[in-house]
Amino acid sequence: MVENRCPHRDAPLDFASLSNGNIRCPLHKMEFALDDGHGIGLAVYTVGFTVFTVKIVDEVVRVDL
Ligand code: FES
Repeated sequence: MVENRCPHRDAPLDFASLSNGNIRCPLHKMEFALDDGHGIGLAVYTVGFTVFTVKIVDEVVRVDL
């Protein structure tokens, strides 16, 4: 799970797209890896995402903050 804010210019990611394990920001189209949040392509020059680990334990969704 990632925060709903692009690390480039804080655009909301409600309408972001997914491609090959990356999330693409809808505003300037920069891509970030979903596994660790690092930037891809031009996005390597900006700060990456904070990635939160999500687990389902006994039908309860747990997010490590
Ligand atoms: S605000 Fe997301 S790429 Fe620029």
